[in-house]
Order: sequence, then C-alpha cells, then structure tokens
Amino acid sequence: MGTILIIGACGQIGTELTKKLRSIYGTDKVIASDVRKGDAEFVASGPFEVVNALDFNQVEETIEKYNVTDVYLMAALLSATAEKNPAFAWDLNMNSLFHVLNLAKAGKIQKIFWPSSIAVFGPTTPKQNTPQYTVMEPSTVYGISKQSGERWCEYYHNIYGVDVRSIRYPGLISWSTPPGGGTTDYAVDIYHKALENGEYTCFLSEETRLPMMYMDDAIRATVEIMQAPAEDIKIRSSYNLSAMDFTPKEITQAIQKHMPDFTISYEPDFRQKIADSWPQSIDDSSARQDWNWKHEFDLDAMTTDMLEHLSAKAE
Ligand code: SER
Repeated sequence: MGTILIIGACGQIGTELTKKLRSIYGTDKVIASDVRKGDAEFVASGPFEVVNALDFNQVEETIEKYNVTDVYLMAALLSATAEKNPAFAWDLNMNSLFHVLNLAKAGKIQKIFWPSSIAVFGPTTPKQNTPQYTVMEPSTVYGISKQSGERWCEYYHNIYGVDVRSIRYPGLISWSTPPGGGTTDYAVDIYHKALENGEYTCFLSEETRLPMMYMDDAIRATVEIMQAPAEDIKIRSSYNLSAMDFTPKEITQAIQKHMPDFTISYEPDFRQKIADSWPQSIDDSSARQDWNWKHEFDLDAMTTDMLEHLSAKAE
C-alpha cells in the first residue's frame, strides 16, 4: 500500500478519521487535505495539503506527489446546507466523486471510500427497519446527490472494476469537531447547550425519531469496511448501517440522568420536513453479515462519553 489521502479532512468525520488512520498506518502514511486549512493544531499534526475536491488536476497532483493508493472522499455539503445552495451542492457532491472514480478507473488509485447517508431514502420508503433494498425517492438535494452517487459507485465497480466501498451513515454524534450543516446536528448541539446553559431549543419536534450513531462506531465501521477482503464487499452501492435511533425527547431523558435540571423546548424549522422524509430505524443485516459489522454505543453509553469529554474539554 502507498499512502492514504483524505479529502475533506477538516470536517466532522474527516478529523476523527485522520487521527484513527494515522494511529493505525502511521502519521506520514495519511495525507490530510481540505479546501482550506482548519484548526492549526490539526493541520500541524501531520502531512496536510490544501486541495479543492472540485479541481481534478489538484487532486491528481496530490495523488502523484504522495504515491496515494487509497482515497477517502469526505468533502460534501450536508442536507440542511444543500437545501440553501442546491446547484453548488450538486456540483460538489457529484463532481468530486467523479474525479476520484475516474482516477481509479485510470489505475491511478486502488481503493476509494465514499460516504452515503440515510438521506438516500425518502417519504415513500418504509420508515421502520428500512431494508437495504427498498423504495428510494429522496426529496432533498443532498439525498438525490447521495443516491446518484451510489448508482455511479456501483456502475464504476461493475463496468470498470473500481474498488469503491460505501456506508449509508446515520446521524453522527461526536464531541471533538462540530458537525457542518446536517439535519441530525441537533443531537450534537444538545450536549454542548446542556453543559453551557442547562437548556436547549431544538429545531426538530420532540417525537422526531431518526437513526443515529456515535462517531467511534462510525469510524470503526469505515476502517473495517476498507480493511475487509474485496470479495466480502458484496454491495457496491452503499451499505445500510445502524447503531441506535431516538427522538429529541429520548436524548433529553438520557441527558437528564446526568443533569436532572436540563430542559428542552421545541421550535421546528425547515429541517423538520427533511427529518420527516427519512427513516426512523435501519436494517443493517447485510453489513453485519458481509463484513461483520457490530455497533458498540447505545444512547446511554454515548451520553456518558459525550458529557465526560465535553466537560473535560471545557476545563
Ligand atoms: N447527518 C446528515 C445530515 O443530517 C445525514 O447524512 O445531513
């Protein structure tokens, strides 16, 4: 193996993924890149390049410079931000993927990780225990881009033999880096506000159930699907992946076990409609069967870990 390139390394997933991959493969083997330099400490922590995912030549040059074999393409506009800028979201989410798929097709890289999302599902999809194969009519720009991306990944695998692997992440919760413009971001913000103010105003209604996952699990899943033997990866569009599902009311109750005075109020905005179009829970038996996926964190374990880390960070 040559080196790994992470595109979009300064984002919520990219930051954690960079740290994890460096701890496994060595700092110099993992090149972090993003459209701009993020946190100074992070940028100084290992090889870093400014790379615009939309600039094919820049991506290609970086791959050649570092003898990159594996690319993790984490740059994207998420669901809420994409609704505010549909044309740019489509451009970024699709063309960054084409650049990387075409570099693999040309034999310049060997393996790709590309994240998909529960947003590939839509209002006509069965909401509970959403199957791997089901009706998919996404109603958001983000969801349309992710579903199209999945089709292209499968196509490039079937027609050109490209080794591309993908997961449909649920909402991801983490303490170290803020999320960037998703509909599930409330489940991160709520912990910050609980510690800062003891109260939180939620942009989704109290009974809005969504599939969620702690970042530790999401990173482990990403590493595991990439380490699995190619023949075990039977689905080349994207795998359903699940750990837990909860409502704003339930996460509030989990926080109240630690902070009994914490209160929540509800002021749903445009993101409510996006959340209502998505599944409430996910059937991920294919991932469990094909590459042995197992989650570790449930709502209570995650809540304890989040509050501990965020309190320590504030000190
Ligand atoms: N967490 C993402 C979002 O809310 C879904 O993939 O946009």
